[in-house]
Amino acid sequence: MENFVTIRTKTLKPEIRLGFNVYIKVGKRNLLYTRAEDDFDEERLKSLNEKKVKKLYIPSNDEENYQDYLQRCLDWALSRTDDSGAEVITGACASSIENFYDDPTSQASYKAAEGAAKGIIKALSKKEGILKEIFDGGGEEEVHIKYAINVSTLCVKLGETISLSQSEIEVLSLAGLLHDIGRIKMPIETHHLFETDYEKFTNEDWKSYKDHPRLGAEMMQDKEYASRDLIQLILLHEEKLSGEGFPNKTRDLDSKAQVLSLVCAFYREVFFLKKEPGEVIKDFMMNQIGNYELELMKTFKKVLKQVQLT
Ligand SMILES: [Fe+2]
Repeated sequence: MENFVTIRTKTLKPEIRLGFNVYIKVGKRNLLYTRAEDDFDEERLKSLNEKKVKKLYIPSNDEENYQDYLQRCLDWALSRTDDSGAEVITGACASSIENFYDDPTSQASYKAAEGAAKGIIKALSKKEGILKEIFDGGGEEEVHIKYAINVSTLCVKLGETISLSQSEIEVLSLAGLLHDIGRIKMPIETHHLFETDYEKFTNEDWKSYKDHPRLGAEMMQDKEYASRDLIQLILLHEEKLSGEGFPNKTRDLDSKAQVLSLVCAFYREVFFLKKEPGEVIKDFMMNQIGNYELELMKTFKKVLKQVQLT
């Protein structure tokens, strides 16, 4: 039987040749909806939207063709003045993370996440203000997916501001999307911890939560296609320069590992604990000194202002 992966309807743009068959789910079956040689016209996309069809399906061996198509959609969307660029980006990131969570052993999902992560970099370099559009848009994604997309976007922005190399920014963007994958190896009754204030954690809660970076890194360890830098970043994303992070109390963090750890810690409070971004960064500038290089924290504060998050 053919394997299928989900794609988001909002990543499809009108009059761009597909290059892969698209299927729609009817009951338990996937029925051919549009042929590879065709495109979606405006009317058809509108009708899918009206029927609230958010996901369609493509054969998993067409993943590469879908990535090509996404690049063409992204170029088209970025040339427009509306927020369709942000839509393509969040849609591509959301389907890739979702497919990855469904089947972390799939190389196709990994490649798709890599493609989506590069899309974030491209969008940020081409369009002023897209970061805010990504942050403000969407909303129908599962909360952890939305969180990961926004973390990745902020990591790219901060990484570029401190002049990390292109390859460092690429792995950082991917790590932003996938850093919490260890969550899927944790018992479901502990999943709420990702959205809970640390101050409310019991000792038992800490014990399970502290394990998620290691579980995530282990999941990727034997995948020869996974970048070693990515695995290292997943393992380090909760560590601090002070040695007060977890799981290994590592102090040895390079700039990109600090960027990821800082952005994750900051955005967790904003997104899940609903704290005001300006207050969170103010608090970090007092209470997280020593956890990150001071210059990095100051730059992050400026970046937040620049992208109008504070
Ligand atoms: Fe985490």
